[in-house]
Amino acid sequence: MSSTLTSTINRTFSIAPMLDWTDRHYRYMARLMSAELLLYTEMVTTGAIIHGKGDYLAYNSEEHALALQLGGSNAHDLAICAKLAADRGYDEINLNVGCPSDRVQNGRFGACLMAEPKLVAECVTAMREVVDIPVTVKTRIGIDEQDSYPFLTEFVETVRDAGCDTFIVHARKAWLKGLSPKENREIPPLDYDRVYQLKQDYPELSISINGGVKSLDECRTHLTKLDGVMVGREAYQNPYMLAEVDQQLCGSDRPVLSRDAVLEKFIPYIEKHLQSGGRLNHISRHMTGLFQGEPGSRVWRRYISENAHKPGAGIEVIEQARKNMSI
Ligand SMILES: Cc1cc2nc3c(=O)[nH]c(=O)nc-3n(C[C@H](O)[C@H](O)[C@H](O)COP(=O)(O)O)c2cc1C
Repeated sequence: MSSTLTSTINRTFSIAPMLDWTDRHYRYMARLMSAELLLYTEMVTTGAIIHGKGDYLAYNSEEHALALQLGGSNAHDLAICAKLAADRGYDEINLNVGCPSDRVQNGRFGACLMAEPKLVAECVTAMREVVDIPVTVKTRIGIDEQDSYPFLTEFVETVRDAGCDTFIVHARKAWLKGLSPKENREIPPLDYDRVYQLKQDYPELSISINGGVKSLDECRTHLTKLDGVMVGREAYQNPYMLAEVDQQLCGSDRPVLSRDAVLEKFIPYIEKHLQSGGRLNHISRHMTGLFQGEPGSRVWRRYISENAHKPGAGIEVIEQARKNMSI
């Protein structure tokens, strides 16, 4: 059982959990660019882990530090999954209290849990009883009409009292009725000040901010007030932003890898995947943004999109896409 509230994980920069996007292939590529960033898996439900047929906890050893994000609200099931994950070597368990989708609401987890702080506290307690790794919570600043600062602090205090000392806060509320998950990432306005206020009032907690961050400069600004920044869509759509995380945010003096150097390091991993019967587009779909902002990036993207899904597509598709950029 966790005896201390302090964890040694570097939370300066993390990549948000994103279903279908931050799978182990994307995470491997991200890790090539930064040794320091903290990775989160896509949300995995307790039901999938306990009853599913696949191995939902599989990852590459190179991915550490790696947090498993769990979706669920049954304390017993969450504890089973947390223990399995800790035994498999995950560095952190994160509970999803931010996802607004209907499917998730029907399962009574995700953002709707903000209205049930005691239940979240119970879940945190149950997980902390069986693992030594940190148990953290990713949440919103509010839900529906419940978006006052006292609503947020009551949630945070209740969960803190169960032993959670690390919160990742998506700085916009979720509308649980009427907005799709995608709209819920765009329509409710961002309120960074509310997250800053939280850190000011609870300096002993580790507070990371999430939502709308698009550059390392913006990260630096947030880091003057907070413990960490979590980046989602920009880290996926423009993954090369990760190449300077260590140098710009974490004080590393290692040379920054070029895009081509990242590609070169990624190729043996892709080849291994192909040799074991995997398909190219399982990996290449995460690479289409690698040259974003560079001349020829559209050519790269198009060639991969048009060719990587074809049966038998191999590494030559990637090589040709790169060559086409300079034609
Ligand atoms: C495709 C996609 C899938 C997502 N899946 C999850 C998820 O599994 N768990 C979660 O907590 N948030 C999920 N999110 C929300 C992100 O983690 C993040 O909170 C949100 O995108 C805001 O950050 P950003 O503006 O940097 O993208 C997802 C977002 C996207 C775009």
